[in-house]
Amino acid sequence: MDAPLTRNIKSDGSTVTLAEYLAGGGYEGLKKTLAEFTPLEVQQRVKDSGLRGRGGAGFPTGLKWSFVPMGEDAPKTKYLVVNGDEMEPGTFKDRLLLEGDPHQLIEGVAIASYAIQANVAYIFLRGEYRLAAARLRRAIAEAEAHKLLGENILGSGFSLDLRLHTSAGRYICGEETALLNSLEGKRATPRAKPPFPQVSGLFGKPTIVNNVETLCNLPHILRNGVEWYQSLSRSGEPGTKIYGVSGRVERPGAWELPMGTTAREIIEEHAGGMRQGYRLKGYLPGGASTDFLLPEHLDIPMDYGSIAKAGSRLGTGTMILLDDKTCPVQMVLNLERFFAQESCGWCTPCRDGLPWTVSLLEDLIAGRGRPEDLETLARLCGLLGPGNTFCALAPGAMEPLQSALKYFRADFERYLQPQNINGGAHA
Ligand code: NAI
Repeated sequence: MDAPLTRNIKSDGSTVTLAEYLAGGGYEGLKKTLAEFTPLEVQQRVKDSGLRGRGGAGFPTGLKWSFVPMGEDAPKTKYLVVNGDEMEPGTFKDRLLLEGDPHQLIEGVAIASYAIQANVAYIFLRGEYRLAAARLRRAIAEAEAHKLLGENILGSGFSLDLRLHTSAGRYICGEETALLNSLEGKRATPRAKPPFPQVSGLFGKPTIVNNVETLCNLPHILRNGVEWYQSLSRSGEPGTKIYGVSGRVERPGAWELPMGTTAREIIEEHAGGMRQGYRLKGYLPGGASTDFLLPEHLDIPMDYGSIAKAGSRLGTGTMILLDDKTCPVQMVLNLERFFAQESCGWCTPCRDGLPWTVSLLEDLIAGRGRPEDLETLARLCGLLGPGNTFCALAPGAMEPLQSALKYFRADFERYLQPQNINGGAHA
């Protein structure tokens, strides 16, 4: 099975050196890009490949790049920003790539920067990813020393200054416009879109913000071609995906598999199945801000379109499992507490609605719930939903709640019967 993004990742947790990366064909994609393709040809190849953003939203990467002004009249200063602020609960796929193979990311950054003609790029890295930061710093220095970054890369005339910035640590900094504010030294609140960053981003200049896993695909697409990339998949959507599993399975972890692998195969074969004594009750397919799916959905391909049809989102592709011995109401409360704490406070529905959601769930679990509270929770899912807030934080936070109310309503209603509060189903 072809797993290009993780082929170098070592099981002992050590990182790939530049010599090892080069020996495995590393930087060949960049060399080919600079020698054979114009920036617009690179954009077209990435469009043709069908690569979609791996941060969670799945926006087509080549299409996103095509919104950047190019040509004579375009602003001279443009930026490429790597979103390495991986903070979605249950998500740890980018960490593997950052720690295990930093040169692959650097090569992807150089290709993307060339495609949009940016001469400065930033890696915005989650602050807690200290090992990744140390390894990236070393890899950037190595790449500069070998003319793979910096002035006149490989004699091509293209120059790129790559800088590492570590986040001070808020979930909202992963939202692309809050990230840009944070990079500019401002308070990390989201900006109104439009204008999208592709037109007016960092310091008001055209900016592309791409996720780590997205960028790591580029060296392979440019080196091996679009047809090869499309052949990696098992569904109508191309490439591979780094899927992950957390919860009560034998072997939690992350694996690069063909796009469209089913959740059943990921859970049963790669994660070793449920631990003895536990049954799967539901799962969030891609981090905490996605809707629950049920065991009956296990055979659906894990790709953007199929998971959307089933009523959820692929998100980051890292599943969080709910087992039959865990109360879904308490699991949702745990997630809502996280989202309420991480709200930046910029818009009212999110700032006030999330703590309200938390207090309703806390009251319910403490036996102080009223039957109408379930209706209030359902109403909050709409009030904090898409279109009513500045960014995707609150709508994402509502996804596990709204689907839990749909699929696990009996678990919520049981808390309205006082005899069930201490013990019973809610052990
Ligand atoms: P979004 O759908 O608004 O945007 C996604 C990307 O497409 C952005 O770069 C945006 O600029 C671009 N885009 C969207 N519509 C566009 C248009 N009409 N014209 C030009 N460009 C357009 O989603 P958003 O808010 O950026 O991300 C939300 C996702 O982030 C969620 O799906 C969630 O799963 C994920 N997420 C991931 C985290 C992580 O740690 N990886 C953390 C938190 C959320």
